[in-house]
Amino acid sequence: MSRPKVQVTREVFDEVLDYLGQHFEVTANQDDRPFTPEELAQALTDKHGALTVLTDRIDAALLSHCPQLKAVCNIAVGYNNFDLKAMSARAVLGTNTPGVLDAATADFTWALILATARRLTEAEAWLRAGEWQGWKLKQFLGMDVQGATLGIIGMGRIGQAVAKRARGFDMPVLYYNRTRLAPALERECNARHASLDELLAQSDIVTLHTPYSADSHHLLGAAQLAKMKPSAILIHAARGGVVDDAALIAALQNGTIAAAGLDVFESEPKFNPEFLKLRNVVLAPHIASATTNTRRNMAMLAAKNLVAALTGERPPNLLNPDALK
Ligand code: GLV
Repeated sequence: MSRPKVQVTREVFDEVLDYLGQHFEVTANQDDRPFTPEELAQALTDKHGALTVLTDRIDAALLSHCPQLKAVCNIAVGYNNFDLKAMSARAVLGTNTPGVLDAATADFTWALILATARRLTEAEAWLRAGEWQGWKLKQFLGMDVQGATLGIIGMGRIGQAVAKRARGFDMPVLYYNRTRLAPALERECNARHASLDELLAQSDIVTLHTPYSADSHHLLGAAQLAKMKPSAILIHAARGGVVDDAALIAALQNGTIAAAGLDVFESEPKFNPEFLKLRNVVLAPHIASATTNTRRNMAMLAAKNLVAALTGERPPNLLNPDALK
């Protein structure tokens, strides 16, 4: 019997290709050139499975070109690039990579919190530009993180990991989530449930950890930013689109809030260029989960999901069980 054919849409670690090669006929893309939607549809026409990344859109239009496709496994915890309804309608399984990136993403959130509160990239740019003439009492004054109130929007695994790290900074933690955590978990996270309005009004640092969907589109826009303290900072390492970037730029320009640390943007990688003109931002190119170990674990978990899906087992991180019917 011929082996199932799978496409890996972007560069992965060699061991992932070796593992997939034990089960499938693999077409890789180690040159790492992103496919256009047309190229992706073309590449998947004769494939049974795919290992994808968050920029590969899997929707009805694409699926209509891929009659053999049985499973698409995202190397990401977010899966807003999947139209799950369209996938289920064609019995195509979708999977993601939850869990393995929580620590790296929470650590990077803290890197953004500290860098933004202490104006690290602004100070480094100034030093690199040769501006440093000597020590000054009032140079690059930032904001205290210890004791500040931390507001976490989206209290899934990553939000909880961010909350647990706040203990070392003696911070009161508020969280807003559609469903409230069990009391034991609230205690473990040392966090109190609040309404979005209360969280925005009381927090010194607001950090977002909610997935992107139609429901969370522009969850933070001009009206919500206006509810924050003028001294507050916003941290965003969730998904572009959860924040209205144009409204955020206006809020940073006119002092509605003090600063922002951002790892994700609308229309990545062509983000709003006005961000580059602001001094009160720390900017990163969507790297919150980017440690060697974590990215290896994400790619391997996606590969394991693909092997399970195409060998008749239930993939461990199945997103659309109704596709099995
Ligand atoms: C990265 O953004 C992910 O969703 O894993």
